Amino acid sequence: MALFGIGRKKKTVGLDLGSGFIKVAVIDHSGDEPEVERLVVHRLGADAIVEGEVMDPGLVAETIDKLFVEEGIHDRDVVASVGGRDLIIKPIQMDRMKKSDAREVIRWEAEQHVPFDMDDVQLDFEITDPEGEGLQMSVLLVAAKRELVENKVALLEEANLAPQIIDVDAFALHNSLEINYPEAMKGISGLVAIGHETTNVNILEDGVPVLTRDISFGTRRLSLDLQRERGMLAEEAEAVLRGDSVDERLRNFLYERAQEVGRGIERATAFLETQEVGESLGRLYLCGGGVRVPGLVEALAERLGVETRVASSFEVLHVKPGAAEGEDLQQMGPMMMLAVGLALRTAA
Ligand SMILES: Nc1ncnc2c1ncn2[C@@H]1O[C@H](COP(=O)(O)OP(=O)(O)OP(=O)(O)O)[C@@H](O)[C@H]1O
Ligand SMILES: [Mg+2]
Repeated sequence: MALFGIGRKKKTVGLDLGSGFIKVAVIDHSGDEPEVERLVVHRLGADAIVEGEVMDPGLVAETIDKLFVEEGIHDRDVVASVGGRDLIIKPIQMDRMKKSDAREVIRWEAEQHVPFDMDDVQLDFEITDPEGEGLQMSVLLVAAKRELVENKVALLEEANLAPQIIDVDAFALHNSLEINYPEAMKGISGLVAIGHETTNVNILEDGVPVLTRDISFGTRRLSLDLQRERGMLAEEAEAVLRGDSVDERLRNFLYERAQEVGRGIERATAFLETQEVGESLGRLYLCGGGVRVPGLVEALAERLGVETRVASSFEVLHVKPGAAEGEDLQQMGPMMMLAVGLALRTAA
């Protein structure tokens, strides 16, 4: 499932344009199993992307273009993704029919479920119970404002890249989770990506996304608060948030802030309690650069009372030697989930 796609290749370059860091993963698909060939993390200017909006597309495009040159990534065909407020992922029910027939009527179905102007929407869908026999079938509907996809493509083209697929953030994360933690595809699992600006909550029921939600929480605001409230310099705050310098006096501050994410996850999962199935969250996987915030993972596990673990993109997936020179793979693992998930795609 993708909002846009062409081509088929042996290697895939996944590009995650985060608000704090650009992440690139190159995956080689020529062997029996996909293998990570290259990993790049590059800091973006402080206010280059704010609330998901690229403030100066020209500058960001130039940064990406230069990064590919400097890192010697010659393949300019990339897989990227979109997410955020202008994208909706929704499980719906509709009359059972063939996929080709569903394609004809999905726009009418979507009208009942999508609060966007249908003239400006790009749609995709997947039948999630293709073997089902009832009169109704379960469909995962994706609707993105056309502008969201078009702006992304335009930005990438300005960076001299050729987007092959524009995927959905949540699905790319899902891909990474599935290959590294197959057990996450059973029962109800939560995948929470804590980034620079946004924390993205995804709930999966037997591997099918049933809810995705963004919480505005991330290391950016934590850093600003540490600077403002504790008089820290930006670099000091950064070191604390990466867990490089631990300061006991900040324990309470960080614990309190972790409760914010906890509340957000609780709100997002509240619907599970009201469902007839009555199943509750079984496991929680945390990823994104924010997992390094001291005490965060522990505080969430304690508050939510579920088995919680940090998810790495390389738990199972093999990384070729030299893929990320001078970088600590273990530290990169959670941060690369999205980029790796994108690079796992072979354009079909
Ligand atoms: N190896 C690392 N290099 C850089 N930052 C790291 C590293 N490990 C953890 N961090 C932290 O991760 C944060 C960035 O996380 P991440 O890359 O997930 O955010 P993002 O994808 O840019 O943001 P968003 O998804 O909200 O747009 C940094 O602000 C920093 O605090
Ligand atoms: Mg991110």
